[in-house]
Amino acid sequence: MEEQMLIEEIKKLKEEKNAIILAHNYQIPEIQDIADYVGDSLGLSRKAADTDADIIVFCGVHFMAESAKILSPNKKVLLPVLDAGCPMADMIDAEQLKIFKKDYPNAAVVCYVNSSAKVKAESDICVTSSNALKIIKSLDSEKILFVPDQNLGSYIASKAPEKEIISWEGFCITHHRVRHSEIDTVRKNKGETKILVHPECNPAVVEKADFVGSTSQIIEYISSSDDKEFIIGTEMGILHTLRKNNPGKKFYLLSPALICYNMKKTSLEDVYRALKEEKNEIFVDKEVMDKAYKSLERMLELS
Ligand code: 13P
Ligand code: SF4
Repeated sequence: MEEQMLIEEIKKLKEEKNAIILAHNYQIPEIQDIADYVGDSLGLSRKAADTDADIIVFCGVHFMAESAKILSPNKKVLLPVLDAGCPMADMIDAEQLKIFKKDYPNAAVVCYVNSSAKVKAESDICVTSSNALKIIKSLDSEKILFVPDQNLGSYIASKAPEKEIISWEGFCITHHRVRHSEIDTVRKNKGETKILVHPECNPAVVEKADFVGSTSQIIEYISSSDDKEFIIGTEMGILHTLRKNNPGKKFYLLSPALICYNMKKTSLEDVYRALKEEKNEIFVDKEVMDKAYKSLERMLELS
């Protein structure tokens, strides 16, 4: 089917089935353009929790659709491409977390939203890149076990020296590839141009950036800035919204490594098939769901 026809069919199906399409900021432009809401992990979780649609078509990666299901258990949540996963989320499983916890019985266990439902179920609270610092600072416990992202863990540790952050050694295979020498080169060539990075970049990169934030925080920063040029240190999918919202501004990607292949797997055809056949539904075991819900709900309360 040609693109315009697919778009029309998706719109028709959405209406007939009372469905909503949620898309992450890294999705391909065609998917972002057809979505009812495009955002970061926190915004998407909030939308999933609040919607009165019967079906949520989640254009993102597996942990995001799983979180939507946990927050909206009575809705049908569809992930158009089932093997769109997050390699970082797969770097720790519940069994590994249980063993890690045994070594630190008095620590609070905080998981990044980029984790499986089972890992969320084993955690006291969940965080996203936009609220991690605020939430961790607000916890009573001084000692924090943080899983799975060592880079976000290091960033929080640098901003909350009153906390002892013990991180799992996971990382995002996309952001971790950015080298600090790439920042040095850009600084040399682009002088005062602001460099904005995601906290999943490694500490040597984060340290040299002008702004560190989630994808939506980067988008908001740029909307409210009078500058005309920016260097973007997060996945290239974000450039679509940035260019759409800021026609007079110029954007340069910090590194050619900034592409997440899992975020690029979903096409309009996949969305159409998932919605038409109501296939690729996400299910979470009831016991896991109830426990994981608590850690996500606590996060939404505190953010
Ligand atoms: P955000 O919550 O900032 O959108 O990040 C999600 C993610 O997977 C970053 O790689
Ligand atoms: Fe996972 Fe990194 Fe892709 Fe985000 S960009 S989904 S953290 S692999």
